[in-house]
Amino acid sequence: MPAPDLATAELTLTGRITTASNATFLGSIGDVVVVYKPIAGESPLWDFPHGTLAHREVAAYLVSQVLGWDVVPQTWLRDGPMGEGMVQRWQEQDPAQSAVDLVATDHMPETGWKHVLKGRDENGRMVALVHEDSPALRRMAVFDIVVNNADRKGDHILAMTDGHRHGVDHGLTFHRDHKLRTVLWGWLGDALTAEERDGIDRVSDGLHGGLGRNLADLLSAEEIASLAARCARLRLAGRFPAPSGEMSAVPWPLF
Ligand SMILES: Nc1ncnc2c1ncn2[C@@H]1O[C@H](COP(=O)(O)OP(=O)(O)OP(=O)(O)O)[C@@H](O)[C@H]1O
Ligand SMILES: [Mg+2]
Repeated sequence: MPAPDLATAELTLTGRITTASNATFLGSIGDVVVVYKPIAGESPLWDFPHGTLAHREVAAYLVSQVLGWDVVPQTWLRDGPMGEGMVQRWQEQDPAQSAVDLVATDHMPETGWKHVLKGRDENGRMVALVHEDSPALRRMAVFDIVVNNADRKGDHILAMTDGHRHGVDHGLTFHRDHKLRTVLWGWLGDALTAEERDGIDRVSDGLHGGLGRNLADLLSAEEIASLAARCARLRLAGRFPAPSGEMSAVPWPLF
């Protein structure tokens, strides 16, 4: 949980993220720059209960904390100028880096990148969706499987200068039905590392203790049971899953 002043000190709005489909604001609490998404600004969706996206964002942060890989920037619920919402620490991206890219198929990167899919762009040119093959991004892919992320677009991956990668925009997580939609399919079928397996076990164990208690304020009992089942299935398989079900396995748009 944040220091008391981050939970209660005045949150001042400094801008709006205009590309966002929901009401998403930039703000500051003292000198801490934050994203603020008021619950009142959440657009209704057909498949997620209305008014629950901010809670899911905080739940994703709590799972990220237990995994211990610093995927999600600090995220918490608090009051703000438009009522209760989620607040998340802003992380300044390195504009010179990107973890996910669309490249012409005749200019595919040779090493250090994973190829996800090929298609034609609006000019009829053959392009490929690629993402880097880094431990930080791989851990994010494991996180996404665990939280059942339905919206891992390229723009929801922040590239930090030091090579770390943060994930953001976790409102569409923890649905009890399988909804994994991601651009991070490059490790499909690969065996999980010991570090990845240990992270999943910490989540499974945590559900019987503090994590379970904290999530109970944010998610339904069915959603928490589904989370436990996903962890168990993933550990049993020991590998990155393949897409399954009728729905698209990638988000649209991809970025
Ligand atoms: N904590 C953060 N630090 C830095 N940049 C962020 C952070 N959170 C979001 N952003 C940037 O702002 C963009 C929009 O945020 P986000 O995707 O969370 O909002 P949204 O309301 O779901 O928007 P959209 O409907 O466009 O996906 C992100 O793609 C990312 O570039
Ligand atoms: Mg978004």
